[in-house]
Amino acid sequence: MTEQFRIDVEHGLASQPKTLPSKYFYDEIGDDLFVKIMHMPEYYLTRAELEIFQHQTDRIISSLEQKSDTYFELIELGAGDGTKTKKLLSRLLEKGFDFDYLPVDISQHALDNLNESLSKELPALQVRTQQGDYFEILESLKESRNPKVVLFLGSNIGNLSDEKASEFIYRLGSNLQANDMLFLGVDLIKSEDIVLPAYNDKQGITRDFNLNLLTRINNELGGNFDLNGFVHAPEYSETEGIARSFIESTKDQVVTLGCDGPTFAFEKGEKIHTEISRKYNDEVLKSIIKHTDFKIQAKLMDSQSFFADYVLKRT
Ligand code: AVJ
Repeated sequence: MTEQFRIDVEHGLASQPKTLPSKYFYDEIGDDLFVKIMHMPEYYLTRAELEIFQHQTDRIISSLEQKSDTYFELIELGAGDGTKTKKLLSRLLEKGFDFDYLPVDISQHALDNLNESLSKELPALQVRTQQGDYFEILESLKESRNPKVVLFLGSNIGNLSDEKASEFIYRLGSNLQANDMLFLGVDLIKSEDIVLPAYNDKQGITRDFNLNLLTRINNELGGNFDLNGFVHAPEYSETEGIARSFIESTKDQVVTLGCDGPTFAFEKGEKIHTEISRKYNDEVLKSIIKHTDFKIQAKLMDSQSFFADYVLKRT
């Protein structure tokens, strides 16, 4: 893990322009900061998707096209604390559907917490937690040949370039069968005055989240980043529909990793690109799934049309 982290950091900081992968945001501190982000007034994404799960639960269920008397597996990739999904799970139980819930996560800790809260809140629910890599798990589940519904919520796909997102959905499809469903939550393209504050909140939580990458490099790779010499600098282009986060150097400076490790020179104003948060519309999503085995079957939106859950069907 540390070795791959070192390789990725050294490669990213030696690139022109400099980059760091967003997947490294999520250590223990980063996980906590992301929970705080989801509760910020500016971060509308979580609330918008929760509204869909609260107010359109029956529409979600009918869009999944499952028969109440036929067993299916409800698989959630990156389950988190399950706040949104619990609305769906409790309604499925109420309506007498025959299914197991399979939350998939890389973190056993996250799965243990989720399992505990589910056994209290929804004791009738059959849960089979799956720890590991999304694709390894889907491959292992493929053998069962049970009908499957895969949830991938929260615009988590937005950290991928369109090319990588397309590859990701293609790979999902290759681990599913015809008529299986992918329920995909994505943030929609909208104006800068709404999107940018979600990535540049007043309290500075997103700043801490972004700069935590430098703290990790200092702690885990012996870096000597001076946290006072860098600022959080997010951007958003409505024409592209992409928010980007950068860490910007406020002065000319040199950073090293360890005593005789590599050095990286920064000019004043030079930026490290740390994250993309893609925003979508029908056209963007259609082009992403064009060369996959999925078609758009339904689309659910919150009352402000900020966020969409697209229901994709494996052909
Ligand atoms: C977890 C990828 C959906 O891009 O909105 C939040 C991560 N980054 N604030 C997003 C994030 C900065 C988030 N996703």
